[in-house]
Order: sequence, then structure tokens, then C-alpha cells
Amino acid sequence: VHAPADRIVVCSGFAQGLALVCAAVGAGRFATEAFGHASHRAILAEGREVSALTVDDEGACVDELARERAVLLTPAHQFPLGAPLAAHRRVAVAEWARERGGVVVEDDYDGEFRYDRQPLGALQALAPERVVYAGTASKSLAPALRLGWIVVPEHLLEPVLAARTRTDGPGAIDQLALADFIASSAYDRQVRRMRLVYRRRRDALVRALGRDRVRGIDAGLQLVVDVPDEGEAVANAGARGVAVEGLAAYRLGAQAHAPALVVGYGTPPEHAFTTAVARLRAALS
Ligand SMILES: Cc1ncc(COP(=O)(O)O)c(C=O)c1O
Repeated sequence: VHAPADRIVVCSGFAQGLALVCAAVGAGRFATEAFGHASHRAILAEGREVSALTVDDEGACVDELARERAVLLTPAHQFPLGAPLAAHRRVAVAEWARERGGVVVEDDYDGEFRYDRQPLGALQALAPERVVYAGTASKSLAPALRLGWIVVPEHLLEPVLAARTRTDGPGAIDQLALADFIASSAYDRQVRRMRLVYRRRRDALVRALGRDRVRGIDAGLQLVVDVPDEGEAVANAGARGVAVEGLAAYRLGAQAHAPALVVGYGTPPEHAFTTAVARLRAALS
């Protein structure tokens, strides 16, 4: 990531960072991926039209971008389907942004957690003047912290800071505590430790569900498992005390999809994880 210190803006999680960028860019049509968080789409949609880019095995189909002023992407690990954005699409979206004066928001929500592949370089490095890189402590530490950061291109810095003066940001004490945590290397140790824990959880889940049924497993804290019927699978899991959602809950556009569940494996406490996996397996068998 190309990140001069005076262009890093700390915010209350990614959600606030996205809202600040949207306010800074202003009106016009925005785009996002056809699968993602409804809450992020809602932020984009405040007073705007939002188009949904088809998602396939190479990530978002960025060739569908046309006159949009900004696009929200998860290039490292498509949320929730799991594919990284293919190299040729990274180049294409950087070109689109340069030629059209578009803004790309790169949501790197789980960049710390890569298991079977080398960490990918940030898309932002291809076009630092057009891409807002966004990170968060929500996956690496805890979502309740409400700490995130955006690296803002020069032309957006003033409007982003102006938008921030109109809202409440994260508390200075939390920011100082995180800075101290990072400077002392404790953050790094925590991430390394959790990477092992999550990798073990991922392996246990893949073994239990079957390798040929799961997708998006080489990074992050969620995977997707194919099921014959989403509603039935969600209900069966719920009846056994396991909260999961169908892929349809993450569908933001009209793209059809095969029935599947999105299974997050970061949440259960360590002592409950093995039981949760066994119950999910029973629910899906
Ligand atoms: C796709 C995606 N982006 C970003 C985030 C982080 O959002 P926030 O920093 O607002 O908690 C999450 C969840 O943690 C996520 O799933």
C-alpha cells in the first residue's frame, strides 16, 4: 500500500470510512459487487443510484463499469464468495478509474488472514491517486472496537476531512491504545497467533463439510458451502443453535446463484467451536 502518513484517516470502522468517501465524492451513480453487505450498499445508496457488478471466479466483472463515479470492491477476497480479483481485472479497473476520473474503494477487510496463498499486493498500489485503500481492526481484533483506517488520494483528502468534522470519529484513547499495540509489536503477535487459530478452524470446517462442497477457503474468516436448499439449511442449522445465513442474504443485485450458506468461523469462542462444527455438519447431512 502506498500510504503517506498525512493521508491516513482513522475512522470508526470501515463503515464510517466508506461514508466519508461517499460524502467526499458526492452525487452520481456508484457501483458495488453483486454480493456483499447490504449495510455497505445502503451507505453507497444515500441519494444515489447503485449498480451491481456481476461476481464470478475472478472476482467482480469490472468491465461492466461505465459512467459510475465510484466503485466499492473487495479485491483481495471477494466478500462473501472468496475469489481474489484477477490480475487483468485489477489493471482494467485502475485504467477505468484513471480514464474516467472514477474512485475505487478497496475494502481490505481481512488482509491479515491469508492461508494457502501469498498475500496479494493492494490494488491501490496500481493507482494510488484513484484508489482509497481501507483497512479495519474488526477482523484482526474485534468489530466492537470500531477502528478502521482509509488511505485517501490527495484530491479527496480535504472533502474527507471536511466530512469527518461533521461526524463523531473513534475516541482518541482507543486510537492511542491501538497505536501503542502496533508499535510494541503486540498487534503483529496477535495477528500471527490468530492466523494459526483461524487456519485450524478453517481446516476443521473443510474436513467436516467436505472439500468439494466449499469455496473461498484460502483466506479470511468465512467460507461458502453449497447446499441443496438455502432456507432449509439455514433453518436446520438454526434449530441446532448454529447461526448462519444463506448466500441470498448477501445478494445486492439480480445475479442468480446456486443455493449456498455463508459460514463465518471467527465468532464462536474456542471451547464451543468443535461442537458448532459438529452441529453444522449434522444440520447439513
Ligand atoms: C466485507 C467487509 N468489509 C468490511 C468489514 C468491516 O467493517 P467495519 O470495520 O465497519 O466493522 C467487514 C466485517 O467485519 C466485512 O465483512
